[in-house]
Amino acid sequence: MELPVSLDPSGRQSLQRQLFEQLRGLILGAGLRPGTPVPPSRLLARQLGVSRNTVVLAYERLSAEGYLQTRSALGTYVSHDLPDSSLRVDADGIADRMSAGRRFPRSSLAFRGRAQAVVSPGKLEFDFWLGRLDPTLFPLSTWRRLVNQVLERADSGFTEYRDPTGLFELRAAIADHLRPARGMKVESDQIIVVAGAQQGLNLIARLLLREGTRVVTENPSYQGAAYLFESYRAEVIPVPVDENGLCVDALPPAGAALVHLTPSHQYPMGFTLSLERRMRLLDWARQTGAYVVEDDYDSDFRYRGSPLMALMGLDQAESVIYLGTFSKSVGTGLRVGYLVLPRHLIEPARTAKALLDNGHAWLDQAVLAEFIASGAYDTHLRRIRRTYLERRDCLIDSLRNHFGNVMLTGTDSGMHLAWHLPAGFPSAAELQALAAERAVGVYSLRSGAAHDFGDCAYSDKTLLFGYSSLDEARIRAGIERVADALREWKRTRCTSARPARTCADR
Ligand SMILES: Cc1ncc(COP(=O)(O)O)c(C=O)c1O
Repeated sequence: MELPVSLDPSGRQSLQRQLFEQLRGLILGAGLRPGTPVPPSRLLARQLGVSRNTVVLAYERLSAEGYLQTRSALGTYVSHDLPDSSLRVDADGIADRMSAGRRFPRSSLAFRGRAQAVVSPGKLEFDFWLGRLDPTLFPLSTWRRLVNQVLERADSGFTEYRDPTGLFELRAAIADHLRPARGMKVESDQIIVVAGAQQGLNLIARLLLREGTRVVTENPSYQGAAYLFESYRAEVIPVPVDENGLCVDALPPAGAALVHLTPSHQYPMGFTLSLERRMRLLDWARQTGAYVVEDDYDSDFRYRGSPLMALMGLDQAESVIYLGTFSKSVGTGLRVGYLVLPRHLIEPARTAKALLDNGHAWLDQAVLAEFIASGAYDTHLRRIRRTYLERRDCLIDSLRNHFGNVMLTGTDSGMHLAWHLPAGFPSAAELQALAAERAVGVYSLRSGAAHDFGDCAYSDKTLLFGYSSLDEARIRAGIERVADALREWKRTRCTSARPARTCADR
C-alpha cells in the first residue's frame, strides 16, 4: 500500500516531523482506519526517498502517543483505542478553518467538548456493547395498544404547551415506582421529566456550573458526565473507586460544587457503594455544601440481595439530586429520563428546563405514564430481568469454561460486567483489537464509554462485556472466538519470542 504522503526536504520542519504530522492527520481524518496495517518502515522509506531511520522515528512517536500499535510478528497497525486527545473537538480550529475562506470575520464558538461513545463503534457479529437493549424484548404490542389508547383521548395534547417539568400523570407514576423500588420519600412535584439522563446532567450543569467550578467524578467515570463537565470548563477532580465504590476518603475537603457518581453499579467497573461509604459521603456533602448527583442508570436490574437504599432515601440534608432513565429498562430511543430534586432546586430547574425546550414531547410521556400506571412496566421489568440474569450466567459460565477462575466485578446487577485480566494476558485494548479481527466486540474502558484520568489502576487490565443484547448462543459463540484470539496471540508470541524454550513452558 502506498500512503498519500509527500515530504518537503527544504521545509522548515524536519522530515521526521513532517511524516509524523501527515500520518497523524491521515489517522485522525480516517484516511487510515483503526486496524489498518502501516507499511514496513523499509518500504515507506523507499517510497518517500528518505532514510529508514526517519520512518522508524516517526513510527516510534506515533506509537508512544497511542496512534499506532505493534503486535509482535504481525506488524504495526493503526490503534483501535485512539488517544482521547485526538477525539477532542477543536472548536476554535474548526471555526478558524470554516471562516478562513470568508470575507467577514466570524466569532469563535463558545462550545468546546468531545463526543462520548454511546453507540457501538463497529459492525460486529457478536457485539458485547454496553447497556444495549435487545429489540426483541421491547413490549411492542403493548406499546402500540397504549399509543392508540392515548391518541383516542388526545384532546389538546398536541396543540398546547404543558408544564415544562413534565406530564403530571408521568411524574406521579415515577414517584409511585421509586418509593418502594428505591426507598425514596419522593413527591411528584420534585420530578422533572427530561430527554434521557444526559439531558438531566445538562440541566444540573446549567444550574450549578460555570468556568472553574470544581466538580468531582469517579475515576474511571461515565464519559457523558466527565465530558459534559469539561465542556463547561469546570475543574474536574477525579476520585478513585475500589470494590466498595467511590473512595470517599479521597474527596476534596472543601470547594466542590457537586460529585457525580453511579453508586448502584459503578460505571464502568460495576462496584456498589457500601452503606458505610454512603453515610460518609452524605456527611461530607452536608459539611461542604456540595450536591451529590446520584446517577442510577441501571438499578432496575439487581440479581442478588436487595438493593441498597438510594442515597436520596438516606439523605437528611437535601443534598442529593437523583438521576433516573428509562433508557435501560424500556428503550434508549425513547429518550426519557427524570431528575428528582431537593425542594429548593425545583423552581430554578423548572425555569432552566423551560428555557431549554419548554418541556418534553407529550405523546411519549402520556404513553409511558399509562405503561407504568397499568402495571405493564413492572411485568416488563420482571421479564427482562429474568432474561438478563440468564444471559449474565451464560457469560460468566463461558468465561470460566475458557479462562478458568476469572476475576469479575459488577456481576450482581446491571447489564454489563468487568473482567480483570490476569498477568500474562495482552492489554485490554490489544485483546479488544484481536477480538475485533474475529468480528467480536469487547471493550477496554476507554472504548466502552468510560473515561479514565490517566492514572487509573484498572485501565489497561479491564475488559468490559455488555450481555443484555445477545442471546445465550451468541454469547457462547462470541466468547469462544475471544478464546481463539487469545490462543492465536499466545502462539504468535511464542513463535516470535526467543529463546523458544520459554514458550514451550507456557
Ligand atoms: C452512567 C450513565 N449515566 C447516564 C447515561 C445516559 O443515559 P440516557 O440514555 O438516559 O441519556 C448512561 C448511558 O449509558 C450511563 O451509562
